[in-house]
Amino acid sequence: MSRWLLLLLFHFLWPCVWPFRICAFNAQRFGEKKVANDEVLNVLVKIVKRCDICLLQEVQDPKGLALSKLLGVLNRQQDLFLAVSSPPIGRKTYTEQYVFLYKSEKISVKDQYKYEDNNPSRPDVFAREPYVVSFTVQSAGQWLKIEYTLQDLVLIPQHTEPDKAALEIEALYDVFVDVRSRWSCKNVIIMGDFNAGCSYLSKKKRKSLRLYTDPDFHWLISDSTDTTVRESTNCPYDRIVVYGQELTDLVTFAGIYNFTKELRLSEEQALKVSDHYPVEMNLDVTLGGSKTLLPSLVCIVLSLLIAGGTRNFI
Ligand SMILES: *[C@@H]1O[C@H](CO)[C@@H](O)[C@H](O)[C@H]1NC(C)=O
Repeated sequence: MSRWLLLLLFHFLWPCVWPFRICAFNAQRFGEKKVANDEVLNVLVKIVKRCDICLLQEVQDPKGLALSKLLGVLNRQQDLFLAVSSPPIGRKTYTEQYVFLYKSEKISVKDQYKYEDNNPSRPDVFAREPYVVSFTVQSAGQWLKIEYTLQDLVLIPQHTEPDKAALEIEALYDVFVDVRSRWSCKNVIIMGDFNAGCSYLSKKKRKSLRLYTDPDFHWLISDSTDTTVRESTNCPYDRIVVYGQELTDLVTFAGIYNFTKELRLSEEQALKVSDHYPVEMNLDVTLGGSKTLLPSLVCIVLSLLIAGGTRNFI
């Protein structure tokens, strides 16, 4: 088979086999200083590239210079990624931004807002109020438009203040209610560095939170997962919480991306990138979530047939 035919086949087949990946990464003081180090920048690029949507937290880049440098390298070959960034958020002078990087071929931003925590029963609960973003997911593949089962997606990011982790996670439920009162969306994911472990949040305390007691929410990252880079720590700080059974059913994998191991770094090299690992989830978004073999086969056969059909005019 000639090479172009293989390429063509691959183009048609990839929506059948490629998962849709959403990541949340506390990039520990992401700013100009961090991206000035080429090795660190390279690792960051590798981390983001794996994801269709990647949330960066602890971004300290009010001028956006570090972000545009990262985007410049990510998009060196083709315009792949776009970014949506929150304003600097904080109580006093210390601020952080939430940044979502997303693959612009498949995804666009529909709406966004900063949650205001002026609830009288819980005033000013968040050190960094969530910056909520609503995404539209288009089908991918230029010719063969396989309809994704996932078309709307709302992401609620959160980086809690460690000592207030329980209070802030409890208040995330109010954020969810607020989001649902504004937008009619059924696919909602709450994610980020919740500091949801070790001395900041006991398992017992976690199990009393509304985000846990409400059976509509599914915690994908378990209490036994270590999301920290340091060998000496073992804490499930970073989490992904999915709303709804339908969305949960599409999940094929959830866990950390151990970039120390995958990119063969030393602990010291890895710690220059961050003290957290990204947490990520894979979604099977083609043909109603083809967990069974049959829909996958149908998808592949259809792709082959259509690829065969188009061969004549190329
Ligand atoms: C990540 O990989 C490194 C290197 O293989 C290993 O030592 C470390 O325990 C792993 N960390 C986690 C949290 O899995």
